[in-house]
Amino acid sequence: MKSMEMTRRAFVAAGALALAGCGQRNEFVNEDVVAPDSMPDDVDDGTAEGGTETAETLDPAPATSGTLVAYYSRADENYADGGREWLEVGHTKVMAGYIAEALGADTYEIVPTQAYPEGYDDCCDVALQEQHDDARPAIANALPDISGYDLVFIGCPIWWGEEPMIVRTFIEGVDLAGKTVVPFTTHGGSGLGSVPSNLQTALPDAQVLDGYAVAGTSVDGARDEVVSWAKGLVQA
Ligand SMILES: Cc1cc2nc3c(=O)[nH]c(=O)nc-3n(C[C@H](O)[C@H](O)[C@H](O)COP(=O)(O)O)c2cc1C
Repeated sequence: MKSMEMTRRAFVAAGALALAGCGQRNEFVNEDVVAPDSMPDDVDDGTAEGGTETAETLDPAPATSGTLVAYYSRADENYADGGREWLEVGHTKVMAGYIAEALGADTYEIVPTQAYPEGYDDCCDVALQEQHDDARPAIANALPDISGYDLVFIGCPIWWGEEPMIVRTFIEGVDLAGKTVVPFTTHGGSGLGSVPSNLQTALPDAQVLDGYAVAGTSVDGARDEVVSWAKGLVQA
């Protein structure tokens, strides 16, 4: 893996504690807290050449409500408060369920054609390589027909301070022009990272709202706050 040469991107901390990047392996460290929009110099600037795979629209799911909750989430071994945890269901999938339930929204799960490694450190290496390559990992399942949705939530874990590259495959594969897009994330300390600003940059014709972040290890107890936030958005 090449990541060890490339890396030292710090996870962005929402509080006083910042996580070391995956490349640091296994340790929380107290580093300077870095604002989401001012990452260290070694952060990928997105100019690297790389994969061009795109998802295909095969058999679009019908639009059945005005709100869609689209998300990518990974189960398996993950980071948890300085250690590791095994997830049968990914944190972001749990959060997506809260939002969908609260709003009676449809859901769409982004499923990678090539599954990410089960091991946390191996997944970190792959994820970082994809960022450096500006890759567009292929999506296995049919993209949704989003023509009937005005409000589209887009959820993901934070990977290396931002959205997994497969989220970019998704947003480039559907037409989000004119939509209201709401980011949500689960994370290990980085909050929303650069997800809202990245989405707004990628989607100049959409209105991207501020979004909401929940620490992955707290997601099981976060139903009420997430429901309250989601309902507050549509009532506003
Ligand atoms: C490849 C990888 C990179 C990660 N990078 C970060 C990061 O930069 N900042 C952070 O706070 N958490 C990071 N995490 C932790 C995840 O964001 C967190 O565990 C999240 O809740 C996982 O959600 P999921 O189970 O839906 O995939 C990373 C996890 C993985 C697997």
